[in-house]
Amino acid sequence: MKRVITYGTFDLLHYGHINLLKRAKALGDYLIVAVSTDEFTRMKKDKKCYFSYEQRKGLLESVRFVDLVIPEENWDQKIKDIKEYHIDTFVIGDDWKGKFDYLKDEGVEVIYLPRTPEISTTQIKEDLHHTEEK
Ligand code: CTP
Repeated sequence: MKRVITYGTFDLLHYGHINLLKRAKALGDYLIVAVSTDEFTRMKKDKKCYFSYEQRKGLLESVRFVDLVIPEENWDQKIKDIKEYHIDTFVIGDDWKGKFDYLKDEGVEVIYLPRTPEISTTQIKEDLHHTEEK
């Protein structure tokens, strides 16, 4: 069984996220999604999620490509996760290209998938904000 892991915030789950999860699952048999906790999101991006960790986790658990959701609490847990969950493939969008190549030293395949163009949580928030102004 080939086990794949990905990491992200996944706030306001959108089709760019689903597209990433679908391609990630297709790379193996079992997909684990590590979702940033509210605290880690604040630290990482200096911003607040619209949906709480529990809400984002629940949404991801209902996606058929996702087999397990775990919390992402810090930058340094990846190697521990890779060992604990016997990961074969680490996958993430290409906005992170090159950033996680060091994981190859742990014997995992590292894959950067092209982002789906023109959609992001930030974009949704900005667009809704501008709609309100009209
Ligand atoms: N992703 C993607 N295509 C998009 C948006 C996100 O493939 N259009 C991927 C990211 O590359 C990452 C995962 O989905 O692997 C989670 O990304 P996240 O940062 O949570 O989503 P964004 O929409 O990029 O959020 P933000 O605008 O807050 O950065």
